[in-house]
Amino acid sequence: MRALAFHAPFSLRCESVPEPRLEAPTDVLLRVDLAAICGSDLHVYRGVEAGLDAGTVMGHEFLGTVIEAGAEVRRWKPGARVVSPFSTSCGACFFCRRALPSRCEMGQLFGWVEHGRGLHGGQAEYVRVPLADATLVELPAGVPEEQALLAGDVLSTGLFAAENGGVQRDDLVCVLGCGPVGLAAVIGALSLGARSVIAVDSVPERRALAERFGAQAVDLGSAEARVRAASEQRGADVVLEVVGSPQASALAYQLVRIGGTISAPGVHNEPTFAFSPGKVYDKNLTYRAGRAPARAYMERVLARLASGGLDVAALFSHRMALEDGPRGYALFDEKRENCTKVLLKP
Ligand SMILES: NC(=O)c1ccc[n+]([C@@H]2O[C@H](COP(=O)([O-])OP(=O)(O)OC[C@H]3O[C@@H](n4cnc5c(N)ncnc54)[C@H](O)[C@@H]3O)[C@@H](O)[C@H]2O)c1
Ligand SMILES: [Zn+2]
Ligand SMILES: [Zn+2]
Repeated sequence: MRALAFHAPFSLRCESVPEPRLEAPTDVLLRVDLAAICGSDLHVYRGVEAGLDAGTVMGHEFLGTVIEAGAEVRRWKPGARVVSPFSTSCGACFFCRRALPSRCEMGQLFGWVEHGRGLHGGQAEYVRVPLADATLVELPAGVPEEQALLAGDVLSTGLFAAENGGVQRDDLVCVLGCGPVGLAAVIGALSLGARSVIAVDSVPERRALAERFGAQAVDLGSAEARVRAASEQRGADVVLEVVGSPQASALAYQLVRIGGTISAPGVHNEPTFAFSPGKVYDKNLTYRAGRAPARAYMERVLARLASGGLDVAALFSHRMALEDGPRGYALFDEKRENCTKVLLKP
């Protein structure tokens, strides 16, 4: 089959690789109908997250059609249309029972193979999905595929970010980063009743998208003045840091009010915090972070999409064939051609 494989930082190739097969009776094989490139794929692409074996098939956002189901799979038959979250989960372990399927004891991330162990990703014609009964969600009739695809990561992660921040009705929320996940966090914060969302990014096209989804968008340099003006100088009740850099973390600290919360789904690779324990103490700060338990949000997100009115497919700036994937990564990485998110059709 054809697949987008990692070889070295900034070096991906669309190439022929062996088709996956069922390896456990709880696996299914999917034909991938749509896939996408995530901001988290960029950490691997840029070599910031290292360790991936050469030849690993990339990608953890996909939806598809079941073509074969293992003997112990109860929910899925060939022909079922399903959406996948970015990691697998058993649905029964300590963490799954506590709504944290992203930390499932048996869970694996798609698109991560290290020293020969792990799981290939979905930027391919076919993908193997372990623990398929608990991992996959049915694609609801009436939700356009491009929208449903976003439930497996971006939209669920955005809602998680807002909930993890404890966003309450009438809160002033600041969202740092207007990439796809930041935009989903804007949608999430407004759905929880935020009075106002100030979204921050240096890229004008991304700010325009944030406004389209209901935020007031500002450049980095104007963020502090805008947040203070909107809060009688106090700062934001909640800051959603959806970037994953020390600069963004430092800005989040600057913008959050005393007694406020920073919720940080952005993936960090640096060894220390951008602010000291003393600074945390000084602001009576709550800081929450981590891998989004997307599987626990997907049904809710898909139901919201089914009710209509949210044009989330606007997040996709580029639609291309799987073969063009390497170009898609380069455009997304360098934010060329106003690239906000890339959809791949195997
Ligand atoms: N926690 C999770 O489970 C989870 C899931 C998906 C993605 N993520 C992470 O979320 C982050 C965002 O993902 P994305 O797909 O939207 O990525 P992206 O790279 O498309 O977007 C990041 C945006 O942040 C902006 N930015 C950079 N520095 C900034 C600063 N100091 N202040 C404000 N904005 C700044 C950039 O211009 C860009 O628009 C990434 O770190 C990604 O790995 C986490
Ligand atoms: Zn992702
Ligand atoms: Zn589990």
